[in-house]
Amino acid sequence: MSVTVLVGAQFGDEGKGKIVDYLAKDMDMVVRFQGGDNAGHTVVNDKGSFKLHLVPCGIFKDGCKALANTGMVINPDELMKELAEIEKGGVDTSLMYISSRAVILMPYHIALDSASERSGRTGIGTTKRGIGYAYADRARRNALRFENLLDLEYCRKRVEAIMPTVNAELEAKGCETFSVENIMAKVSVWAEKLSKRIVEPVSFVNKAIARGEKLLFEGQLGAMKDIDLGIYPYVTSSNPVAAYAAVSGGFPVSKIDEIVGVMKAFSSAVGDGPFPTEMDDEQSGGFRGTGNQIDDEFGARTGRARRLGWLDLPIVKFAATVNGFTSIAVCKIDKLDTYEKIKVCTGYKLNGELIDYMPSATDLYKVEPVYEVMDGWLTSTRDVREYDKLPANAKKYIELIEKYSGVPVKYIGVGPAHDEIIVR
Ligand code: GDP
Ligand code: IMO
Ligand code: MG
Repeated sequence: MSVTVLVGAQFGDEGKGKIVDYLAKDMDMVVRFQGGDNAGHTVVNDKGSFKLHLVPCGIFKDGCKALANTGMVINPDELMKELAEIEKGGVDTSLMYISSRAVILMPYHIALDSASERSGRTGIGTTKRGIGYAYADRARRNALRFENLLDLEYCRKRVEAIMPTVNAELEAKGCETFSVENIMAKVSVWAEKLSKRIVEPVSFVNKAIARGEKLLFEGQLGAMKDIDLGIYPYVTSSNPVAAYAAVSGGFPVSKIDEIVGVMKAFSSAVGDGPFPTEMDDEQSGGFRGTGNQIDDEFGARTGRARRLGWLDLPIVKFAATVNGFTSIAVCKIDKLDTYEKIKVCTGYKLNGELIDYMPSATDLYKVEPVYEVMDGWLTSTRDVREYDKLPANAKKYIELIEKYSGVPVKYIGVGPAHDEIIVR
């Protein structure tokens, strides 16, 4: 298989980093195709424990190219910081590339995002990394892209043209403004440090596909936070669905061979918005942990305690429908090891009637989840590496996911580390 796309099947933080790190062993290139450093993808492998925000999780495999592609909004300071941290761990980053068409996320995007979040009227609980404002500038053709770092004279003209609008918006929100010189000083550092990594992305990707290389596209967040298909307005500003890997990458959708949906064995979300199976803190303590372990349920980007709930199968089915999963990876099955009874949401009632579609955010607030209660397995799955050796009730849980979603479960995570996985 030459092109595989891996995406989140819920509200983000499903365990994509772990599965990408595992699948990267067979890959020639791993590509991020949307989002920015709102992502927090956790990888635990023989090189250490990492939380990656912009760098594709394939960076740890020797000889594997890593591309931050078109469709992303990239804060160059964060990227340089992250690369330096990874290099400190002894990892070679010489094969990390950046699309010339990727948008540069500017310091003023962060200021505007933070100001919006402070306002009770516009805040939705973003990561305050400037994501929405960088995408807004892309849409209104006011963004700088990495290609602009290769021609500083033209770049200055663009900055001079953009800054009056940006500064008016900053002033209106009570934020400090930026001069052209402030921005150009940053631009020249970014150009010096990052220019060597910038590539023309469409030929870079298509030539690799034509050579028969194996490419893995790593999604950020999950389907429920897609700007078009998710719980608008409590969403991110990009499309974390599989087809967008092709749209932004400039290759035909028909080139995609495999689409892996990553889900957690339960549900989690950060930020505001409807969450039908959400539990209160007391009930969800077993999932969350105290924050001392790498796999405790605190945001890998913001450190916020994640909202937690039982598995919601209508969400997984919706994600399977909009993405076209060819297989599913279920992470964190081990976190259910100690539960005597496990609840799974298998449907929603809206105004007393069962519904067979994913409603808008407004109606999702009103739905009543319908639960099936399953017997737990009350034994540790951490050391299991073969499907047949899983406890019978854990297999029933996996089979319920398959039956409901119509998609085979190919990978099962039984712990945070690289080899804590069952492959079927
Ligand atoms: P991502 O954003 O989808 O890459 O997911 P995050 O890294 O933000 O969150 C997933 C969390 O679950 C991280 O703390 C991982 O270390 C952890 N994790 C992933 N898979 C497993 C698993 O199978 N078992 C356990 N216990 N932890 C896992
Ligand atoms: P990964 O890739 C979980 C959430 C924010 C907020 C909404 C919009 O690690 O799964 P944004 O900063 O994107 O404008 O915030 O999306 N969010 C995430 N939640 N995991 C993420 O990334 C997220 N990236 C953004 O909490 O609700
Ligand atoms: Mg995450």
